[in-house]
Amino acid sequence: MRQQIAAANWKMNLTLDQATRLLDEIVASPHHLQAHQKVILAVPFPYLALAKAKLSGKPNFFVAAQNCHTQSSGAFTGETSAEMLRSVGVEYVILGHSERREYFGESNAVLEEKVGMALTYGLTPVFCCGESLPVREAGTQNEYVENQLKESLFNLSEEQFLKLVIAYEPIWAIGTGKTASAAQAQEMHAHLRKVIAGRYGSGVADQIPVLYGGSVKGNNATELFSQPDVDGGLVGGASLVASDFEKIIEALK
Ligand code: PGA
Repeated sequence: MRQQIAAANWKMNLTLDQATRLLDEIVASPHHLQAHQKVILAVPFPYLALAKAKLSGKPNFFVAAQNCHTQSSGAFTGETSAEMLRSVGVEYVILGHSERREYFGESNAVLEEKVGMALTYGLTPVFCCGESLPVREAGTQNEYVENQLKESLFNLSEEQFLKLVIAYEPIWAIGTGKTASAAQAQEMHAHLRKVIAGRYGSGVADQIPVLYGGSVKGNNATELFSQPDVDGGLVGGASLVASDFEKIIEALK
């Protein structure tokens, strides 16, 4: 059975007090997760060790960083390496989020390096892809997203590729309240699986978790997650309120 994942992306939000409170609320909630269901919290760098400690008694809960550098150490002021993340017990790292691509100029080539570095240090990349509104309006979203995968991921070996989590996040749906319809999400997820099958075979394509992101909320998660190729969500805004995020966790199939 494929993994089902509710991933929280806190982005650059919350002070230490607020982060502590939210983590305590999440830890205190009863969860009835099955073996194939996971919750991943991508918190800002200063709270990674705190999140690790708070979640230590919660099986199926994992901590993610929101970025890492292409190198493992060196004179890169202000950067954080995959090796450092691993050393504080982080298990996942979001790579290729559209905000990183847009505001920090991360290209498919740079992301290929980051994915390689994350895998070298035993981190699981949550690799984000997704098209902008003009691309969607031009009807070329399938080719666009396919190209993101090809350029950043398709030099990986099958064994490496099987370690990934993919997140499809149409940029026009992020933080806008405009969710892709369940049918739009399913269509793209099925397309991604077809492209992956073309490169690695259908056995690999069937195993890779593909999450949907972009205005996932408590009231639309069930419909989105019920699509056959949608394996959960990457959640921004709604992950900052414990009760909202709980509803999304409960919507995992
Ligand atoms: P959103 O963000 O849920 O606030 O749309 C999702 C994301 O950017 O990962």
